[in-house]
Amino acid sequence: MGANKQPFYITTAISYVNGSPHLGHAYEQILTDVMARFKRLDGHDVMFLTGTDEHGQKVAKTAEKNGMAPKDFCDQVAQEFIAMTDQLNISNDDFIRTTEERHYKASQAIWNAIKENNPDDIYLGKYEGWYSVRDEGYFAESELTEGVDADGNKHKLAPSGAPVEWVEEESYFFRLSAYTDKLLDFFAANPDFIEPESRRNEIISFVKSGLQDISISRTNFTWGVPVPGDERHVMYVWLDALTNYITGIGYPETGGEAYKKFWPADYHVIGKDIIRFHCIYWPAFLMAANLQLPKKIFAHGFINVDGAKMSKSVGNVIAPQDLIDTYGLDQTRYLLMREVSHGNDGNFSHEHAITRINSDLANGLGNLVQRTLSMIHKNCDAQIPSPNELNDDDKKLLDHAHNRLVKPVIEEVDQMRFNRALENIWRLVNDANAYVDAQAPWALKKEDPERMKTVLYVLAETIRVLGIITQAVTPSSSSKMLDQLKIDADKRDFSFINSEHQLQPETAIDKPQGIFPRLDTAEKAA
Ligand code: MSP
Repeated sequence: MGANKQPFYITTAISYVNGSPHLGHAYEQILTDVMARFKRLDGHDVMFLTGTDEHGQKVAKTAEKNGMAPKDFCDQVAQEFIAMTDQLNISNDDFIRTTEERHYKASQAIWNAIKENNPDDIYLGKYEGWYSVRDEGYFAESELTEGVDADGNKHKLAPSGAPVEWVEEESYFFRLSAYTDKLLDFFAANPDFIEPESRRNEIISFVKSGLQDISISRTNFTWGVPVPGDERHVMYVWLDALTNYITGIGYPETGGEAYKKFWPADYHVIGKDIIRFHCIYWPAFLMAANLQLPKKIFAHGFINVDGAKMSKSVGNVIAPQDLIDTYGLDQTRYLLMREVSHGNDGNFSHEHAITRINSDLANGLGNLVQRTLSMIHKNCDAQIPSPNELNDDDKKLLDHAHNRLVKPVIEEVDQMRFNRALENIWRLVNDANAYVDAQAPWALKKEDPERMKTVLYVLAETIRVLGIITQAVTPSSSSKMLDQLKIDADKRDFSFINSEHQLQPETAIDKPQGIFPRLDTAEKAA
């Protein structure tokens, strides 16, 4: 696999370790995982990186509150994020922690590369201005509002609602102001660089309003990567954090195999709150270091709960494990991918979750598989039956599965429109269920057993294709479907979706096991 398709490199944002993982983190992980899995199934050699962002004032303060040394605190919380990738069945190829040695090396190397390639771009000065610890970001006076923070105190607030504090300290600066035109030219030449378009417009208008130089080092705390050559300073956490995307593929070894194969990245998947860092700072740092820019930044929306922003003070924060315990892992993955549309905010509600899971998974795909395989098991000696001559209805369903499914699905996937890709796949599920109802194989059992065999064969073959195409979203359930059909593990990628690789008649199958149980509405609501 992967011999003649382009390598594909995709990343998530790396999570701050100042709190436990929540549904928002889980959503981003799943979104990125689904893309990575689709690309592998489509024959690409994929590198998928995720990790944790462990430096900066926010993490240092939280560690202190917990009475722990920063590194010990990070070790503890990072484990929760690593555990989340397992809980969610995330197929990341690497997990980077910014406190690793390899990352110190890469972060210092990019600093040096900027100094070597553009010596005027880093200069020593004094920062006097506003800083939001929660965003780990600098803000201009004009961007601030007056407001009350979560603790009820009056404050100047950053656009995110986080309080800002006044900072005055010696600092190294990055000459971001020199990149205004270069960035605008780059955005014009690469119209797909930032998606969705609304975010691209937001960034372009921000850049057009003129960029200020930014402070890229701090001296009033020490929890960070030391600035090369001046260890009184630690690097600004975002400069170190963004560099993770190249640390993960071996930077500074730009001649190394991983770097040559995977840089520039195909996709940085991030949330809408951190576009300024990814769409302005990161490209500018890379230009200054004379490195190539990633191909695309995709900013997804936020997951709200029952229409409200998730927050500790509201008490509506959902831990990913709770959803998995309630609905099942693949059901949770499906739900998030089906419910949230391209780049928009998504809303989570238990009521809606139950309806969606029952209609699409339990009654839709699950029921199709269960009734088909049970009938085969009972009425065909527990063997895939041999089909007789196909009629137009049979041909139509198989043609949909073999020839009219993968291409449109991949087109949606390539744009991260997984809700539409799933809608598309479920058209086949619905067609197959309508076909069962119309053909009524249970009635054919007596009337025309040979015809029943054909119908059951056509259904089993359709299920094989559905099992293959759904793997990226519901990996373990789809594997179970394919296991039940006795499909070899090496015959499950998209190149096997065609009539050439149809099911072998007479393959023995086991007694079928249900895949997506129906959720009891009353019990789950409680
Ligand atoms: N550490 C930075 C990212 C550095 S990337 C070089 C950060 N960390 S975070 O833990 O706050 O967020 C990690 C990711 O989760 C971000 O992409 C963020 O947008 C996303 N989300 C955080 N809350 C979210 C929701 N409620 N919904 C969806 N995604 C959200 O930012």
